[in-house]
Amino acid sequence: MCGIVGIVGKQSVAPLLVDALKRLEYRGYDSAGVATLENGVLNRRRAQGKLVNLEKKLIAEPLNGFVGIGHTRWATHGVPNVENAHPHFSDNVAIVHNGIIENFRALREELEKKGYVFTSQTDTEVVAHLVASYLKEGLEPIKAAQKTFQRLEGAYALAILFKDADDMIIGARNGPPLAIGHGEGENYLGSDAIALAPFTNKITYLEDGDWCIIKKDNVEIFDFDGNPQERIAQTSASSSFLVDKGNHRHFMLKEIYEQPEVMSHTLSHYLDFGTCESHIGNDLPFDFAKIDRMAISACGTAYYAGLIAKYWFEKYARLPVDIDVASEFRYREMPLPKNGFALFISQSGETADTLASLRYCKEGGMHIGAVVNVVESTIARESDVIFRTLAGPEIGVASTKAFTCQLSVLASLAIAAGKARGVLSDEDEKRLVRELTEAPRYANAALKLEKDLEKIAHDVAKVRHILYLGRDTNFPLAMEGALKLKEISYIHAEGYPAGELKHGPIALIDEDMPVVVIAPHDSIFEKTVSNMQEVAARGGRIILITDEKGASLNSVDTEHMIVMPNMPDILTPLIYALPIQLLAYHTAVIMGTDVDQPRNLAKSVTVE
Ligand code: F6R
Repeated sequence: MCGIVGIVGKQSVAPLLVDALKRLEYRGYDSAGVATLENGVLNRRRAQGKLVNLEKKLIAEPLNGFVGIGHTRWATHGVPNVENAHPHFSDNVAIVHNGIIENFRALREELEKKGYVFTSQTDTEVVAHLVASYLKEGLEPIKAAQKTFQRLEGAYALAILFKDADDMIIGARNGPPLAIGHGEGENYLGSDAIALAPFTNKITYLEDGDWCIIKKDNVEIFDFDGNPQERIAQTSASSSFLVDKGNHRHFMLKEIYEQPEVMSHTLSHYLDFGTCESHIGNDLPFDFAKIDRMAISACGTAYYAGLIAKYWFEKYARLPVDIDVASEFRYREMPLPKNGFALFISQSGETADTLASLRYCKEGGMHIGAVVNVVESTIARESDVIFRTLAGPEIGVASTKAFTCQLSVLASLAIAAGKARGVLSDEDEKRLVRELTEAPRYANAALKLEKDLEKIAHDVAKVRHILYLGRDTNFPLAMEGALKLKEISYIHAEGYPAGELKHGPIALIDEDMPVVVIAPHDSIFEKTVSNMQEVAARGGRIILITDEKGASLNSVDTEHMIVMPNMPDILTPLIYALPIQLLAYHTAVIMGTDVDQPRNLAKSVTVE
C-alpha cells in the first residue's frame, strides 16, 4: 500500500516524481521520499508525514538529475519517521518498495554478518544491501538485481536505481501492482496508471514474477527466470487531472454529495430505466440458473456491501451465498463448488487479500466476477467478468460513493439472478427495477438532512464509545456506520444485529454509550422497536434513523430522531448509508481529525 514511481528521463525528474507521488498519496501518507542520480552521485530527500513536507524540503534543498525514484509510505515495518522513509540506500544502490519482504529477518542477519549496517527498522533495507552485496561480489547491476529477486520471499513492487547506471531503473513485481509507462525519450514505472497519467497513457502492466529494465529509449521485460517476455501495452483511460474538492471542504463530503449522480450512472449502466428490465445478465459467461451456491469475498466497506448482497441474492434469487472477509477466506480451505460463481468486491481492485482469494477460486475452477471501481486494476484484469461501479475516482480514504455504487451493482445483479433462476416474474423484475431507479431521488432527499445530522454529531463527538444496531440488510449497514465513524473520528464504534444485543453487548449500555438504531418501517420494525425498548429501559440514549411511518409508530423515547422518506425495502441500505456517512463526517470535523487522510489508514491495501 505504499506507492512507488521511477523515471528515466530527459529533464530534471524530481518535480515529476513529486507530481506522480501526489496521485499515489492515497496509498499511504506516513512519509515520502525521492532519490535521483546526478553526475554519478545518488542523493535523496525524505520527510516524515504527508507529501507536502517533502515538497517543502525539496524547495529548501532541490534535487537535480534525469533519473530518479520516489515513494509514499504506509508503514508496515518500523515507525513512520525519516530513517524508515524510502528510498533506502546501500553503497551504490537506492531502492523503493511496496509490499512486505517476509524473510527479511534471515536476510538481515546474513547481511549484518557481512558487515552491512542497517539504519532503519524496515524490511526494505535488506533489499538495498542484498543488491549492493551482489554488486560487491562483482555481478553486473542487472544480474545483481535478478539474483536479489530470487532470494526474496513475500510481496514486492520494487524500483532500483544504481549509482553506476545513469540511464536505467530496474523494476520488479511479485504481488503489488507495477505499471510501465512508455514516453518519448523518457520511460516510467509506477504503482498505477493514474500516477503516470501526466506523462503518458501508454501503459504495460507487469505480471507476477516479472521484472524489467527501464531505459530512456527502451524497455525490456523478463519473467522470474530471466526469459524475455512480451507484454501488451494498453492505452490507459486514467485522467491526468488531479481531482479537486470543488466547493466542498473535504473530498469525503464531495463524494457523499456525488452519490445521487453516480448511483444513477451505475444503475443505468445495468438497468433499462425505460422498460424497467435488468440487462446485466445478458452477457455472463455462466448461467445463474445452473449455479447452486455463490461465494462473495471482500474487505472492509466492500465486505459490508457483499453482506447486504447476500440478503438480496438469497431473498430475490433463492441463491445461497457464502460470504467471508477475504483475509479469512484465502486461508480457510473452503471446498470450492466446481462450476460455482465467486464474486469479489473492491473499489481499488488491488486489495491483496481480495486478490489472493480471487486467485484461489480461479485455481479451483470457479467462474470469477468482480465488482470494481478501477477498471484497469489487477482484480479487474484477472476476472472473467467485470461489473463496474461508475463512481469515478474516490479520493477520501473512507469509502462512501464506492459503497453505494457497489450496492447499486449488487442489487441489479441479484435481480438478474432472480430472473434467470425463475424466482422473480417479469412483474417482480419490473417493480424492483422501477424501485431502484428511484434511488437518486431518495438520495437527494437524504442529503437534505445534513444539518440535522450535524447537530447530532455535536453529541456524538463527546462520547468515546457508541453502538450501531440494525436488522436484515440494515445490520451490515450498522457495521458500515460503525466502521465509518471509527476510521475518521477515532471513536470506538461497533455494529450489531439488533436482536443480538441481549446476548452480551447490552451489558455495555449506560448513559455514556449512545446507540444508533437504523430502523426503517419494514416487516421486522416492531422487533427492532422491542430491542430499542431494552436499551431505553437501561438508560441508554437512542439516536433513531427511521422513516415517516416508523417515526409515527415508534413508542420509545429517543434522544434524536432522523426521519427519512418512506421508501421500498430494496432501497434502504443504499439510501440510509447517506445519513450514516454524514453523521461520521460531521463528528470527525467537529473533532478536528484529518477527514480525508485519517491516521494509520491508506486507500489501497496491497499487503496482507
Ligand atoms: C473503509 C474502507 C476500507 C475498504 C477496504 C477494501 O472506508 O475504505 O474498509 O473498503 O480496504 O478496499 P477495496 O474496496 O479497495 O478493496
